[in-house]
Amino acid sequence: MVSAINAPKGVPDYPPPRSRDFLYVRQALAEPATRAGYEYIELPIFESTDLFIRGVGESTDVVSKEMYTFTDRGDRSITLRPEGTAGVIRAIIENRLDKGPLPVKLWYAGPFFRAERPQQGRYRQLQQVGVEVVGSDDPATDAEVISLAYHGFTSLGLQRFVLNLTSLGCSTCRPPYRLILQEFLGTCDLDQETRERAALNPLRVLDDKRETVQAQLTHAPLMIDFLCLDCAEHYASVRSYLSASGVQWQENPRLVRGLDYYTRTTFEFVHPDLGAQSGIGGGGRYDGLMADLGGASLSGIGFGLGTDRTLLACEAEGLTPFVRGIIDIYFIAIGEPARLHTVALMQSLRTQGISCDMSFDSRSLKSAMKNADRLAAPFVAILGDHEMQSNSLQLKNMTTGEQEVLPSTSQALIGHLLSPDRKALR
Ligand code: HAM
Repeated sequence: MVSAINAPKGVPDYPPPRSRDFLYVRQALAEPATRAGYEYIELPIFESTDLFIRGVGESTDVVSKEMYTFTDRGDRSITLRPEGTAGVIRAIIENRLDKGPLPVKLWYAGPFFRAERPQQGRYRQLQQVGVEVVGSDDPATDAEVISLAYHGFTSLGLQRFVLNLTSLGCSTCRPPYRLILQEFLGTCDLDQETRERAALNPLRVLDDKRETVQAQLTHAPLMIDFLCLDCAEHYASVRSYLSASGVQWQENPRLVRGLDYYTRTTFEFVHPDLGAQSGIGGGGRYDGLMADLGGASLSGIGFGLGTDRTLLACEAEGLTPFVRGIIDIYFIAIGEPARLHTVALMQSLRTQGISCDMSFDSRSLKSAMKNADRLAAPFVAILGDHEMQSNSLQLKNMTTGEQEVLPSTSQALIGHLLSPDRKALR
């Protein structure tokens, strides 16, 4: 016997029935954006490596340690996308979307790739739903973006997540703050690697999880206390709009994100039940990114929500299964005339939006009923020679156990299933 092949390490499958909830979560996270005028964008899975080096930042872990990079047959350096923002901005510039009405509001969903150490909730192929808005400085845009994510999570019934919010300042106020922070870090007792990080990206040191480091950072200067007037006003305005949108947040001036492009409003959603991998989504403004990638000097803001981790959070809060079954009626047809009639009937029902399936391979009634149960079909229709003679079928309600005889037409079935007391099929 030949040996079976497993998926690469850290790459999750979503087989049914869990795949139903995966799709449900993805749609729920995207729905607020589709209702707010965001257009879908489909993006390539791989891009030129330079895009991420320039867009995400060479000093980030994502770029320096986690990219899946290879040389293609034409000797070009290619990278499997580790995140979505850089690709969206590249596509906006390349397709000249920024020359049309502003702001450009886009959403996307799909897989991203990071060579991280796999563990529960940390995958090498991860799934996100994201939005990006380009060409608006309005603080109401920041609040809209955050509110879309927030209400995506609440629409799933999630209650225990926390939204952390801060401002990272701009090109006016961040450089002087950075120097102040570096000066402070110079007085701390840090190992060589951390000193190097302080020289390259001092904000990242604030995120150091080690107690020995954190103990020295209690009195570290924080960006939020050094915002310029414009940034402070912008941040105050974002908070007012957030309150008006019914969003609850917690200010976290120590919030540090893993990507370099952020400016001003920055946020992260965390779920306490997910252990070390608690970030279920995050994002912020990136007012310099478009220009850094060779486009017009337009500001932007967006988020990426982790579909995998959001599903884990829903499972941890006991909200799943969201979807119990995927068909409305399961047909069991016994004998060739009944099978032929059922095939025609199912075609008509499917065209009219009713999901149905039948027992194939002439199974026994018992094994066909088992299948119906496994598929969680709310109704089972049984047709045999007897029913064919009277143009009828037997319809069994699998929830109540009631059985009725109906004419074997799609109209009769639809009329019965959609009668006011049975509106919800699944
Ligand atoms: P990010 O924080 O790197 O941001 O990723 C967003 C979300 O993707 C995380 O909060 C997490 O839920 C999920 N995620 C990240 N890495 C993994 C992993 N290894 N396994 C499972 N889930 C993961 C971005 O990617 C930015 N592009 C977001 C953004 C858009 N900012 C502005 N616009």
